[in-house]
Amino acid sequence: MSAPTCLPSWGHTWVDLPVLRLPLPGVELIPCDNGCYQIPIDISAPEDPVDRAVHRWFLGHHGAFLVWRFLGASLDRLTREPDSQLVRAAALGYDAYSVMLAYSGSCSREVYDDVIRPKMAAFDPAFSGRWARDYEPLPALLRRARAALGSAAAEPLSAASKANLLAHMEVMRALVPDGQSLLRESGKARVPITDAERARFDEFFLVSRENVCASRYAAHRTAVLSAVDQDLAKHPLRPEYRDTLGRLLTHL
Ligand code: HEM
Repeated sequence: MSAPTCLPSWGHTWVDLPVLRLPLPGVELIPCDNGCYQIPIDISAPEDPVDRAVHRWFLGHHGAFLVWRFLGASLDRLTREPDSQLVRAAALGYDAYSVMLAYSGSCSREVYDDVIRPKMAAFDPAFSGRWARDYEPLPALLRRARAALGSAAAEPLSAASKANLLAHMEVMRALVPDGQSLLRESGKARVPITDAERARFDEFFLVSRENVCASRYAAHRTAVLSAVDQDLAKHPLRPEYRDTLGRLLTHL
């Protein structure tokens, strides 16, 4: 059995990461019939600080794609089964997404300005996280889950989702202090998102939409979360980030 291809034919060569294969949101994983989960998934952080910053931008986004899927499933279940254990799982999902935001955006302003932002702007001048199709259903699911739970039972979830909004703001403020985001500069902040833009976002971040078997998906998810954790062990940010990743890895 051959090793997975590391670069897709449609992508770019800015980072050496295995393509993340994901079903479209709402589509179930399929059963595995050929042991493909045994193919090694090799993810290692480069030593050079600038290369590592680019690697973190992409790997952190892969982590976010995987966490969004977990979060979507947890919130969806919560709307049908308002249960305290599920509330903790969904709150853990928001906390893990906050870790991915901080990890992705952990570069200096200079590296973001000189290296990372120009890659997105060259790919598409209006490039935006709004195009992330796995994230799109989450705000409505959160509202439904909170309504099903009532405000007291939803408290841990509300706190984690609020902290997550602050985490996004913190990254934006650190990397784009003048507030002039690519989205604002493009004048497309209020324009509805198209399928072509959703596909562009996947393409930029080396995500391929296809049928994916449950074991392969789980193996790739473990590889991504463990790679982030190992990088943070070597080059720490905040200690609580590794606690959150550890809790998520144990939970899954
Ligand atoms: C790991 C995931 C994410 C990271 C690291 C991140 C980080 C950032 C950064 C650095 C900017 C400034 C962009 C620039 O250079 O112009 C930004 C802008 C923005 N992001 Fe995200 N983002 C993420 C996910 C998302 C998602 C899922 C959404 C979906 C709603 C989103 C919505 C936005 C919006 C609307 C802006 C523009 C805000 C404004 O103009 O005030 N982001 N984000």
